[in-house]
Amino acid sequence: MNDIFEAIQKTAIRIKDAIDVKDIGYSQQENSSGETQLQLDLQCDLIIEEELSKVSSVHTIASEEKDKELLLHNDGEYFIAYDPLDGSSLVDVNLSVGSIFGIYKGAFGAQNMVASCYVVFGPRVELVFAQDKAKLYLLQAGEFEFVKEIRLNEKGKLNAPGGTQQNWEPYHKEMVDSFFAEGYRLRYSGGMVPDLHQILLKGGGLFSYPATSDKPEGKLRRLFEVFPFAFVYEAAGGEAINGKENLMSLGHSHIHDTSPCFFGSKYEIARVRDVYSKQG
Ligand code: AHG
Ligand code: MN
Ligand code: MN
Repeated sequence: MNDIFEAIQKTAIRIKDAIDVKDIGYSQQENSSGETQLQLDLQCDLIIEEELSKVSSVHTIASEEKDKELLLHNDGEYFIAYDPLDGSSLVDVNLSVGSIFGIYKGAFGAQNMVASCYVVFGPRVELVFAQDKAKLYLLQAGEFEFVKEIRLNEKGKLNAPGGTQQNWEPYHKEMVDSFFAEGYRLRYSGGMVPDLHQILLKGGGLFSYPATSDKPEGKLRRLFEVFPFAFVYEAAGGEAINGKENLMSLGHSHIHDTSPCFFGSKYEIARVRDVYSKQG
C-alpha cells in the first residue's frame, strides 16, 4: 500500500506542474459520460497511468477518461479507480480542482475498498489519504508532510447542494431550504474535491448531488468519485448515503455507473435519511 501512496504523491507533483503550464484547449474526444475532454484531463490520465504502471502491486486501473479497465500487473492485488482531474471545467477560471483515487483489493466494488485518496490543487496542494483514519498532508518543498488527522463534528454549518435546481424533486428543495433556514451557509464551487474538502476541514455540513429529473441516477461516478469520498467521510466520523442506503453498501454493474450521493456529518445525514425514507 505504501508504494501506491508514494506513486499517488508523484502523480500529484506532476499534475500540479501540468496545470500550471498547460494550454488547456479542448480536445475533440468525448469520454464515456459524453463530456468533451480537456487535453489536460487526458494528460493527467496518462501521468497517473504511467506512475501506477511502475507499481507491481497494482493489478488493474479504471479511469474516468478510459472506456475500459486496463490490466497492469497480473500478479498485483490492488484495483485502482481514479478521476484524474475532477472539476476540470474550473481550471480556466482558476478555481480549485482535484484528483480522486479509490483503492480496491481483489476487484472493483465498494465492499472491496481498502483505502482512498484525493488531492486538492488550490492555492496549496493538499492530499487526504484514508485507511482506518483520514489523514491530511501538505505539499511543501516537493514533499508531502503530514499535517493532522481529520475528524468531523456531529453537526456543521455548510451546505453544498449540487445539480440543477430546476430539476430537483420538490422534497429535495424543501430539505436544502430547511438547512438554510437553520443558518447553514452556501458553499458550492462546482468541484466536488474542494467542496467536500471544505466541509471536512471546517468541521461538517452537507454536500448533496441528488437524483434529478434529467439525471435519475445522479451525476457522480461510483467507483472513482462517490465510493472514495464515502470512504473518507466514514473514516473521518461522518456518513455517506444515497438517500436511503449507505453508499458503501451499494454495488455497481459498470465502471462508469453513477449514484445520487449525500456526504456529511451525522446531524445532516440523519435529516437526509428522514426526508428520503418518506419517499416511494
Ligand atoms: P468532472 O470534472 O470530473 O467531470 O467532475 C465534475 C463534477 C464534480 O466535481 C462536481 O461536484 C459536479 O461535477 C458539479 O456538477 P454541477 O455543475 O451539475 O453541480
Ligand atoms: Mn469528476
Ligand atoms: Mn474528471
